[in-house]
Amino acid sequence: DTLRKVDEWLQPFRLSTEKLREVSARLRKDLIRGLGKHTHRRAPVKMLPTFVRATPDGTEKGDFLALDLGGTNFRVLHVRVVEEQQKVLKMDSKICAIPQEIMLGPGEQLFDHIAACLSEFLESLGLKDLTLPLGFTFSFPCEQKDIDKSILIRWTKGFNCSGVEGEDVVRLLREAIHRRGDYDISSVAMVNDTVGTMMSCGYRDQSCEIGMIIGTGTNACYMEEMKNVKRVEGEAGRMCINTEWGGFGDNGSLKDIQTEFDVEVDRSSLNPGVHTFEKMISGMYLGEVVRLVLIKLAQQNMLFGGKVSEALEKPDAFETRYISEIEEDVNGLDRAQKILTELELPAGPEDCEIVHLVCSTISTRSAELCAAALATIANRIRNNRGLDHLRTTVGVDGTVYKKHPMFSKRLHDTVKILAPKCDISFLVSEDGSGKGAAMVTAVAQRLAMQSR
Ligand code: BG6
Ligand code: GLC
Repeated sequence: DTLRKVDEWLQPFRLSTEKLREVSARLRKDLIRGLGKHTHRRAPVKMLPTFVRATPDGTEKGDFLALDLGGTNFRVLHVRVVEEQQKVLKMDSKICAIPQEIMLGPGEQLFDHIAACLSEFLESLGLKDLTLPLGFTFSFPCEQKDIDKSILIRWTKGFNCSGVEGEDVVRLLREAIHRRGDYDISSVAMVNDTVGTMMSCGYRDQSCEIGMIIGTGTNACYMEEMKNVKRVEGEAGRMCINTEWGGFGDNGSLKDIQTEFDVEVDRSSLNPGVHTFEKMISGMYLGEVVRLVLIKLAQQNMLFGGKVSEALEKPDAFETRYISEIEEDVNGLDRAQKILTELELPAGPEDCEIVHLVCSTISTRSAELCAAALATIANRIRNNRGLDHLRTTVGVDGTVYKKHPMFSKRLHDTVKILAPKCDISFLVSEDGSGKGAAMVTAVAQRLAMQSR
């Protein structure tokens, strides 16, 4: 029957354990390349130093502001770090919308918008007269010269503002605030969302030394030995490295597992050729891969009686959250029916089962690829420390990981197979990465005070 035929047809999306091991080994080589003094420039996996060397020691305190830009929501937060209780308290927070024309417009307009959101927030809390330090979670690849100097390498995901790539994001933010002149901020610490996530989980679990995001985009950071971080001076201790693993495959190393649909998603994206791995995994792209597969199946007469609706032909019409809904254990097939009807597709029971199969195949591939990448990092930490066995914790965030009913289990199961000597706990971040960004700011402030 058709279901069986489709099942076979989907074979290129299924990766054997052997293949996943190979992918993990390739990433291992790329991590080393990205860390090298001379090899990093053209490395697909950027391995960016974050200048986060220490996790909190419990003496940090004070009030902080935080910005969180680059995921589904842009947030502004007011965070208080309390010394005695070793606690990070979120006092207030607000989500501000960023209209698409701002995401794709001039950089100055983006930063004016951010500064305006912050102004409104401070106004509403009566905090405008304080000059507070600020932690900025900026979830894009940045070359950091220091904790407060962060140059955008390139936009990823849905952003593409002109005049920001190659510029210092802290300077752009400060200039926008000064243009307004109605409030000011003191020191700034820049963090990637993976780092913010690791730090916010680190407060609850001291052994949290990996941060992972599977949301709009995907990425991870981890604590690397300083002696291996050839681009930063010093040999002692550790530094958190933002891997930017989304760029894995950008030199063609994943050609053997890319399907024609992955190639098409890349081609029609805002940034063709960039973030190959991410485009096979994260929320911004998963629904689009499914949509292209459904169209092809219909064209080949295996779905919807051979018909494609106008609604399904629109790019991004099949949202990633539909995949989560359709894979829901109890109501999944009913949800499939409703979603397909909304997309004006004539869907019988078998069509629903086929769509379910497509969704689960593509989301499983995503979870397993993430598992392969995470296994690479865990195995690396274990080797770095010469341990037979590593016990570690990963702080995780992102809508795909949190909302998909099966994603986390599939990921956990596969990591166990690919990193058998690592015992990995997963800690889902609460309240996002803003608290972590504030924590990094607090640690930076403590270190600055101590060296004065
Ligand atoms: C949020 C974090 O909870 O998750 C952000 O605060 C992060 O910093 C985001 O970017 C990632 O998930 P998504 O699905 O919103 O992209
Ligand atoms: C993209 C960004 C990266 C971020 C990830 C998750 O891959 O380049 O910096 O961490 O998305 O938001």
